[in-house]
Amino acid sequence: WGIDGHYIVCTIAQSRLNKAAAKIVEELLPKSAENDLGSVCSWADEVKFRYPWSRSLHYVNTPDVCNYNFNRDCKDESEEEGRCVAGAVKNYTQQLLTIDSNRQSSDNLTEALLFYSHFMGDIHQPLHAGFASDKGGNTIEVHWYTRKQNLHHIWDNNIIETAQERFYDSNINDMIDAIQTNITTEWADQVKTWERCSYTDTTCANLYASEGIKAACDWAYKGVSEGSVLEDEYFLSRLPIVNLRLAQAGVRLAAILNHYFKS
Ligand code: ADE
Ligand code: ZN
Ligand code: ZN
Repeated sequence: WGIDGHYIVCTIAQSRLNKAAAKIVEELLPKSAENDLGSVCSWADEVKFRYPWSRSLHYVNTPDVCNYNFNRDCKDESEEEGRCVAGAVKNYTQQLLTIDSNRQSSDNLTEALLFYSHFMGDIHQPLHAGFASDKGGNTIEVHWYTRKQNLHHIWDNNIIETAQERFYDSNINDMIDAIQTNITTEWADQVKTWERCSYTDTTCANLYASEGIKAACDWAYKGVSEGSVLEDEYFLSRLPIVNLRLAQAGVRLAAILNHYFKS
């Protein structure tokens, strides 16, 4: 996601934290964040140059098939195992577990919280579990209404941006409120199942990535080819998927932090 997508995920998550988790998150956040997790949710994108090893941790690609397999897919260009977004989610879950035993290394825990919150967002962006041959839609040039754009960017940014402009008077907080309302009404039953798979080892990260490539095939790539013009029909049918994935990411991030930061 772009800045707005990550802001939405982290704002939803922070609003769902219990008292203990909210306190630990507040302690771990840099002072400059003023206890706003959303404001630092894109930090991981800013440090791709400082931490080149982190680049491959934002996505996972399949060999152009609509299913995901950890052993087959979760590696970087040098074939190092676990170096993908699902491996990162698994890894940082474990690092956050050391919160009690390891208060003194709180620098690392701050970074772990920021990386983790970011990667939980990215793993829910359908094209962050995409096809290797087109780099998750990055090499597919299309038009977003009248503008040239690549398909990946449309899912990272344009669908969310256009929704804000069209439905929420360009106010991101109104969009967040609308998603939160959906979480407590339309999706209330599903939310319990989203929360259930939050805190086991690899299996949950693998589930999120499997959901992602399936949504990529069913919605992001579907009906799109080089040069396609994507406008209202695509926007209006895909926006519910974007809203759903942002909600799932926020709910699951909160559930995990609530589970691990109990006291
Ligand atoms: N670079 C290569 N594959 C990518 C993907 N699926 N998402 C984002 N960046 C990528
Ligand atoms: Zn992206
Ligand atoms: Zn990212």
